[in-house]
Amino acid sequence: MTHRAARCDTGNVGMARRKLVYEGKAKILYEGPEPGTYVQYFKDDATAFNAEKKAVIEGKGVLNNRLSEYFMNGLTQIGVPTHFIKRLNMREQLIRQVEIIPLEVIVRNFAAGSMAKRLGLAEGMALPRPIVEFSYKDDALGDPLVPEEYIAAFGWATQQEMDDIVSMALRVNDFMSGVMYGVGIKLIDFKIEIGRVWDNEFPRLVVADEISPDSCRLWDIETGKKLDKDVFRQDLGDLADAYTEVAKRLGVLPTNVTHAPTKPTLIN
Ligand code: TMP
Repeated sequence: MTHRAARCDTGNVGMARRKLVYEGKAKILYEGPEPGTYVQYFKDDATAFNAEKKAVIEGKGVLNNRLSEYFMNGLTQIGVPTHFIKRLNMREQLIRQVEIIPLEVIVRNFAAGSMAKRLGLAEGMALPRPIVEFSYKDDALGDPLVPEEYIAAFGWATQQEMDDIVSMALRVNDFMSGVMYGVGIKLIDFKIEIGRVWDNEFPRLVVADEISPDSCRLWDIETGKKLDKDVFRQDLGDLADAYTEVAKRLGVLPTNVTHAPTKPTLIN
């Protein structure tokens, strides 16, 4: 068994004082300290197949909090706006309130999951180019895949917003693929959510929710070993061990949080 992040966790001490805004399957949103902010709390709960399969994976929330912080900070640095403000503690981060667009934006580089099944493709087959697709966020319907035509017609996002979302998703893909490639991991696919923030009457799009191994497919480049939520979906082993491996490679384990490059040392 490898290092477990949750051992030194303080749990949700102090939570009772905060006003709960929304509880999802893996996270809870509380009112933030300032207007226009929320506190996003990462739970240890894992669900799959629209919550038909459930478990509590000790330490998952702590790892996803760190990993999402790492990816969101990286996106900010390359000029992709996100909802992330700062990490507050082991399980919580301060985020901007956004109006969530009710879409799961999925980018795929290699065939896997529902795409492999739908089209009868071999898992891991390289796609001719990255493919962006949208699912309508509705648990009761099982988040059905929807064409852009539906999105515009039902007013979930405007055509201009969809174009912006596709370019943002592709930038996130380039960033995430590069970061992962650098630590020997292939980014098969991922899901992001996009929110609107209002600057006066003008909406601006930001990456929201989380980016973590819960919402990506990550395969070791050498061995093909899965290091994402498929480990839980497919009963392939210990999920926290897989996420710890990703965090370790990126240098973002809770005990080793400095991932800033050290300055070169002059050798006389
Ligand atoms: P899929 O192949 O099952 O459609 O999943 C595509 C990507 O989206 C994959 O990286 C896993 C992620 N995902 C979520 O983040 N949440 C979900 O509810 C589902 C179904 C997939």
